[in-house]
Amino acid sequence: MQNTWTAVDDYIEQHLIPENPVLTQTLKHTEARGFPSHLHVAPNQGMLLAMLLKMNNCKRVLELGTFAAYSTIFMAQHLPEDGYILTMEGRDTHIKLAQENIDASGYAHIIDARLGRAADVIEGLPEDTEPFDFIFIDADKQSYPEYLEICLKRSRSGTVIFLDNVIRAAEILNPENQKPSIVGLRDMFSLMQNHPRLSISTALQTVGSKGYDGFALAIVK
Ligand code: DHB
Ligand code: MG
Repeated sequence: MQNTWTAVDDYIEQHLIPENPVLTQTLKHTEARGFPSHLHVAPNQGMLLAMLLKMNNCKRVLELGTFAAYSTIFMAQHLPEDGYILTMEGRDTHIKLAQENIDASGYAHIIDARLGRAADVIEGLPEDTEPFDFIFIDADKQSYPEYLEICLKRSRSGTVIFLDNVIRAAEILNPENQKPSIVGLRDMFSLMQNHPRLSISTALQTVGSKGYDGFALAIVK
């Protein structure tokens, strides 16, 4: 099925996702530096992030898990002039690559990329930091429950939270899989269930060029 999913993603991309030299360059540079290509979002998912930003008139974005900054640059392209993205990455090799891509993108003035564990970076933000309008959680899956709680402290009523890779080819339902990342995702679903600070939540399964996975979405109460 993977070949079909990839072919359909290619078809969608050809029809609906405009050529984007900046993002093409980001992918090229990432590949040239020898980094994997499965970690960043697919172009059609990047466009979904962009649509959510536009639908909600978002200005301030918080991203956990920068990797190559592909989604970061994608979102930056759809923010207003006075937009701002704070993104963080725990691996120093990744943040170096990300900064190279950000510098080449022309969006360095609105992207603040920091090295560090997401929880530490966010906990260390000044108390009076304005809340974020949109939060993209895409870092280590094991820590999603912790990240969700920390992000809620930096949210306002109406903040949209998008959590990537929450299905993992249905491994979340496999009782034999007790990997920390999978356990973390199950704990995340339990935490989201009836969370007093979330107004509505959902999750969708997806197939595509990145395989079988999915994402969760929530709106802060
Ligand atoms: C992995 C992580 C991601 O954020 C993603 O989008 C795809 C894969 C991973 O760790 O395997
Ligand atoms: Mg991801």
